[in-house]
Amino acid sequence: MNGFRARMARASSRKGRIILANDLDDVDVKSLKKKTISNIRALGRNVCALKLNFHVILPLDKGSLLAINRSAHKEGLQTIADIKLNDIGNTNMMALRRLWDCGFDAVIANPIMGPENLAELVTSAHRKGRGVITLVHMSHPGAKIGYGLEIKDPRSGRTRKLHDLFLDWSYSSGVDGIVVGATVPEIISYARKKVGDRCDIYSPGVGTQGGDAKAALEAGSSYLIVGRTILRSKNPVSTAENLRQLSLES
Ligand code: XMP
Repeated sequence: MNGFRARMARASSRKGRIILANDLDDVDVKSLKKKTISNIRALGRNVCALKLNFHVILPLDKGSLLAINRSAHKEGLQTIADIKLNDIGNTNMMALRRLWDCGFDAVIANPIMGPENLAELVTSAHRKGRGVITLVHMSHPGAKIGYGLEIKDPRSGRTRKLHDLFLDWSYSSGVDGIVVGATVPEIISYARKKVGDRCDIYSPGVGTQGGDAKAALEAGSSYLIVGRTILRSKNPVSTAENLRQLSLES
């Protein structure tokens, strides 16, 4: 194992398996960079990676993103751009190039683009030592309606669930990780059995969305992605510390 997966394994062996979803929803655009760097410094001991969503990345310029990514790396954190990328090949390639130029370690992509584009994305990212994580089943309440759709696989003619097709496309494309919500532990177990150690499982949806951290880890999640439960708690540092402890014990 090398590249992004190996860096995540190294970071989490020291810092636990919590990823901070730095969703600064109420922060003024002018303060986004400062507040993100202050979160990295305050919480960096208790999390192994930082995830930045589209709404945080969009208003920031390249210099600010580089400063944020450098600050995270200095604290020993990996950084993930959660843009749920899903486009034609050349657009995907340009998006990757811009993200890597800004210092990110990995991108979250949507497998609906199809297995050929996905494989191309993974090859390109791995050439630069970067990672790709794909959506398999999201965590929000409406996720089951979309990801649970019964579809007819156009290649095999088999009827199956959309998330199961995304799972196959993801691991056969060599992605570093897949996203399965902590709110669907039965799908985490299913995915873990199917992928074995071929890729990591990232689970958002802990706490605020109703997912249980321990249940997700026991079902086979490698990492928990946590936002509001930490950011909106009375004491974010001790909440992150408790989650970190739990992740090291599970
Ligand atoms: P909370 O505040 O609910 O935030 O802890 C969860 C974070 O995870 C993101 N999220 C996802 N990201 N695939 C993703 O790539 C998903 O299935 C998914 N579900 C939630 C969400 O945007 C937030 O940053």
